[in-house]
Amino acid sequence: MAIDSVELRRVMGHFATGLTVVTTVSAHGEASGLTANAVASVSLNPPLVLVCVDKTAESHPHFAQSKVFTINILGEQQESVSRRFAGKGPDKFAGVGYRPGANQAPILEGAIAYMECTLVAAYEGGDHTIYVGEVQEASTQEGRPLLFFRGGYHQLDS
Ligand SMILES: Cc1cc2nc3c(=O)[nH]c(=O)nc-3n(C[C@H](O)[C@H](O)[C@H](O)COP(=O)(O)O)c2cc1C
Repeated sequence: MAIDSVELRRVMGHFATGLTVVTTVSAHGEASGLTANAVASVSLNPPLVLVCVDKTAESHPHFAQSKVFTINILGEQQESVSRRFAGKGPDKFAGVGYRPGANQAPILEGAIAYMECTLVAAYEGGDHTIYVGEVQEASTQEGRPLLFFRGGYHQLDS
């Protein structure tokens, strides 16, 4: 019998990850975004990345509508940003520094890297959709990552 969702979350929590805020834009051009760690590199040529988005997320439909998203990789000072974008509501961007990228999706101030993507595929993934994007623009800056491990936020020790 398959394990339940609580156990899967507990076990997968041992797989340490970085944290991202994946942004997109609504049909009305409003900024939208969510905290995500189900992010991975897919292909180098062409340059593809993926993010798995819960079908119940408010931002979920905006990916397919706008056909763009941007993966913002959070720095160690951005735990509050991660917590904010893991919540709900229309005011997630209030007080958060950002600028629209070339694809119009927000690029967050303080992110240690970002990748601006155009949506190339959407696959069924149970209660999530696997959105695959081709990376059009990308940039990095100095800084250390925010990490997630066993349900808690962490920083690199060294
Ligand atoms: C550490 C962490 C990682 C998360 N990773 C994901 C993820 O990969 N995909 C996802 O759909 N939700 C993920 N979430 C949950 C979303 O951030 C949360 O459901 C959010 O409220 C969705 O925002 P929205 O409904 O405004 O789109 C994560 C939450 C946390 C705290």
